[in-house]
Amino acid sequence: MNKLLLRNGTIVSSQGKKKADVLCENGKIVKVDEDITVTDDMTVIDCEDQFVIPGVIDTHVHLREPGGEAKEDFITGSKAASRGGVTTILDMPNNTPVTDRVSRLDAKYDLADGKMVVNYGFYIAATGDNLEELKKADRACGVKLFMGKSTGDIAVTDGLDEVFEFCVDKPLVVHAEDEARIEARKREFANINDPSVHSLIRDDESAYLAVKTALHLAKKYGTKLHIAHMSTAKEVDSLRKFHGGNVTSEVATHHLFLTTDAYSDLGTLVQMNPPLREVGDKDALWDALNDGIIDTIVTDHAPHTLSEKKRPYREAPSGVPGLETLLPLMLTSVNHGDLSFEKCVETMCEKPAEIFGLAKKGRIEEGYDADLTLVDMSREEIVGEKGYQSKCGWSPYDGWKLIGWPVATIVNGEVVFRGGAVHEKFVGKPVF
Ligand code: DOR
Ligand code: ZN
Repeated sequence: MNKLLLRNGTIVSSQGKKKADVLCENGKIVKVDEDITVTDDMTVIDCEDQFVIPGVIDTHVHLREPGGEAKEDFITGSKAASRGGVTTILDMPNNTPVTDRVSRLDAKYDLADGKMVVNYGFYIAATGDNLEELKKADRACGVKLFMGKSTGDIAVTDGLDEVFEFCVDKPLVVHAEDEARIEARKREFANINDPSVHSLIRDDESAYLAVKTALHLAKKYGTKLHIAHMSTAKEVDSLRKFHGGNVTSEVATHHLFLTTDAYSDLGTLVQMNPPLREVGDKDALWDALNDGIIDTIVTDHAPHTLSEKKRPYREAPSGVPGLETLLPLMLTSVNHGDLSFEKCVETMCEKPAEIFGLAKKGRIEEGYDADLTLVDMSREEIVGEKGYQSKCGWSPYDGWKLIGWPVATIVNGEVVFRGGAVHEKFVGKPVF
């Protein structure tokens, strides 16, 4: 039962491209071979002239349930993911209430049950005084530590040692911005109201100071540290010089595609934490991605309603949505020759699965989960012209022409997005 055959596509992995058929059965990839014989019980998708990649794994999203359902919820957020070719999402704990205890983590899994069209895992937040909860949180995909305050107002400055010491197996994802420096600079720039001051307040030194502390602690304790949203050349330099420990890092698409220039047109719409940076920083991030210093690409999908985002600076919340544009932006870059298709698959599918221990995900091999994305590299679309799946209904890339789009998304062997439409098949499963 439930056999799906992807025929005549070109499969992409970090190792290269090859033409092969992919047969999925009961949610698993059961055969990858040239010329698989079609039988009556198969649903066949012709993938001629298309590429088949492992479903994208986005390890950094904020879907807002519980507590922020006016911005996004599990249904709309997971539909946005499927529309963007993303088949697994790992969701952050800065909810209301904050997911900082096992009881709240369990309640969040209960709340999500049966609502997602993609697979999912949830983080638990470190608060500096909840070590016993972290130890019991077997179902957490990782521990999230905010060193500087962002949406949710969590900032941990005390009790860092215990958290770094504990996270030697479970990934510790760190939002590295130095809270003391940010507070001081908020006072220093208190009379400037232009949104671009956001990048001055939360400057590159703020990121550097926090990353330096995180790297020091990771070395001391052998922490499985994952540095979230690297945004500056200074952080890249620190990581290049760092030897030892088990440290990985990610970059968010907005830091690869936008710089402080975007404030003049988009103002508070492009306010996020860490903030937009200079062209030199963007260039350093691209180099680090191509060199393997940065391991993964994420969205940091952080939806807020347009009316919230259009408030004046200091009242507007930080964050931009990204799930529907992550893959098209990166594929457009592949088309422009800024990175290879192989690197794209490595950083968005293979490495996220490895770092977060997602067994049987991230590759197109027999025995792996049938999470697959079909890609048309010559398809041109304007961002936003067909609307958005995300409840927030906007994008910082609205109006951008991108070339290279997902045309079908398959989760656990079921087609959840195809022909421009997201099908309400709530087949997503927790990954832990
Ligand atoms: O800009 C951001 N928005 N950065 C974060 O760290 C949190 C996120 C959110 O949840 O809105
Ligand atoms: Zn985030």
